[in-house]
Formats: sequence, C-alpha cells, structure tokens
Amino acid sequence: MAREDEKVLDACLRAGIAIPFSCRDGVCHNCLCVAVSGEIPEAAQRGLSEVQIAQSMFLPCRCVATQDMEILPAQAVKLFTETIVQGKALLSQEMCKLLLEPTLISACVQGEFINLRAPDQSVQSLRIMNQPAEDYFLEVHVQHSAHDSFSDWVFDVLQVDQSLFMQGPFLLQQSVVAAPSITPRAKYPPTDLLLWAALQGGKLLAVILQDFYSRVYQDPLLSPYFHGTTMQRSIEKVYSFMQRVCTGEDTFFGEQPKNSHHWMVISDDIYRHRSALMLSCQQRAGLSPEMSKRWFAIEDYYKHDIVKSVAIPRQLDGVDLPLEGYGDMVLDAGSICDGCGRVIEVGEHVRYHVRLGTLYCTACKGD
Ligand code: FES
Repeated sequence: MAREDEKVLDACLRAGIAIPFSCRDGVCHNCLCVAVSGEIPEAAQRGLSEVQIAQSMFLPCRCVATQDMEILPAQAVKLFTETIVQGKALLSQEMCKLLLEPTLISACVQGEFINLRAPDQSVQSLRIMNQPAEDYFLEVHVQHSAHDSFSDWVFDVLQVDQSLFMQGPFLLQQSVVAAPSITPRAKYPPTDLLLWAALQGGKLLAVILQDFYSRVYQDPLLSPYFHGTTMQRSIEKVYSFMQRVCTGEDTFFGEQPKNSHHWMVISDDIYRHRSALMLSCQQRAGLSPEMSKRWFAIEDYYKHDIVKSVAIPRQLDGVDLPLEGYGDMVLDAGSICDGCGRVIEVGEHVRYHVRLGTLYCTACKGD
C-alpha cells in the first residue's frame, strides 16, 4: 500500500519489490513498468514513445497512483508467457479464429500484434482482432498456409483449454522482429478489419481506386504498365484483392502480385511515384493518415515481389514458367485485344505473352 503522495517506485522498494532504477526522475527509464490494471497518471508517461504509451507502460518513479494498480516489469512484454485457448472456430477452410486467455490485458489493443509459439518453436505474428479490455479475451485469426507448420498445428492439433505461449503485444509489425520466425511468409498479410471499416466496407475503396486509376492511365510513367488492360479490369482486380487482404474472405481469385507483376521492371523511383499518387488519392477521399499507413503496410508486404531490375518468370505450383512465348487462359475480367483492338469479354479464351502480358483474342495469333 502506497502512502499519500508516495511514488509507486518508492512504495515498491519500501515493500521489498525489486524494481531497477537509477535517476528516480523519469530520465533513465530503468524503472519502466507495465500497468496490467489501474489508471496511469499522465505525468508517469511523459517522455515515453507512442508505442510504450499504447502498451500501458509508465515510469513508477514519476507515478503517484490515483487508484489500485497491478504492475509488471516492462520486460514482461518481451517474454513468452503461457496462455490458454478459450475458443477455436473455423471462419473458412483457410481461416481459424482463436480466443485466448488474456495476458497483459490492459496493454493489448485492437490492431496490435502478438506472437504465438507452437511446440515445434515455430512462431507466427498475429493481429489482435478485438478490444481485449472490453471482451476479456484476445481474438486472433490464423491463416492456413501450405508448408507452414504453425498453421498446421493450429488447424489440426490445437484444442480448446490447451496452453500455448504468447509474446507481446507489439504496436507495429516491425517491432515483432525481436521474435525469431522460422515460418515462411504467408501468402497474404494479416487481415485488417479496421482498415476495411474505414474504407466503408469497400465504398470508399471504390472511390479511391476510380480516382487513382483515372490518373494512372494518364500518367506517362505508369500507363505503359497497363497497356492492354482496361481501367475497369484494373480497378476490379485491386478492389477484390484489397477486400481479400482486409477481411480474409475468399473474394480474390487472381494471381499473387509476384506473378501478376513478373514481367514488369519497376524501379524504386517508379514505386515511390506510384505510392505518392495513391496517397494523394487517399487524402482527397478523406482517408486518415493512420489508415493510409495501414493500406501501405499491405502494399509494402509485396514490395520485394514488385520492385526489381529484371523480369522474373511467372510461377505455377512453384515451377518457373518461361520468360518468352505465349500461354492460354480464360479471362476473369474484360480486356482489349492487342492484335485487333476489340473488347474481349469475361470468360473468353485468350493468348497472352508470358513476359509482356499482351493479350490476343482467338482471331489474332499474337506472334
Ligand atoms: S528511475 Fe530513472 S526513469 Fe525511473
């Protein structure tokens, strides 16, 4: 029990609780702790980063408690601690929802990330989907991926009431680098339902994409990449892709960015130019800076598949396809024949150049 006007650090030391400290004046941050419950006075977070504040960290040497507080050393968020599975449900064949016993509950906020560790030591970073402090459980969604031992374990082995190890939360995905991950990169980044809500369930997304592509098709640097593809096709593809990434729903049946951009040589400058154009469209539509950041986090997830100095082969089931020559496919969205210029309808068979991406209707040979 702290005395009147007594700092939390002093109260702990008086009670024999060893908290590291040095300056006793909010400078060295040696005493940094996490409040698991109880209100943190503003003065106790002065000088901390946004990330630390969002994680309910505070400096006990500057904190006079205004109510009961339950506290832990800050290093606790860096440790893997045991949690229990309270619920498990399949949202689709590829997506499993887990409800976890709360750990560091007051430090967990929707949109942050936690790491979960399977018994084979594989680790996966997952976004917190709910408001844990309100629900008193943590909800995360695990995407099933081929050759991913973690998701295999979650889907096939993990049971309700079973324990597993959790680390975090982390405000930003980059913070997660502290945790060694030996799992291959997932096909899609973590879902982002908050971004989808900010995009008004797709309404605002459609407005932004319409604005963006009307500018892209006029842009001398970007328009060559869309030669032979109608603007409507480009918009539909990106719309369904964003919907798939944000919601986890099976709405996208096109190719992954690595394949769809395989023939394009896109420099960092072009990528930056395109991002700046996209940002201006998001701002015109009134998307907040925080949501723009989340949108670009999705785009950056694929950046290394897109920015390159030479064309790379398209892959099918892990096998490289030739860089030259033609392939056949059935169109999943309307386009224009590069041979005769006529509109090719959805469902028509076309030939396409594997490197250039040019399309030809059945009446044109294309070579
Ligand atoms: S002891 Fe230095 S910041 Fe608290």
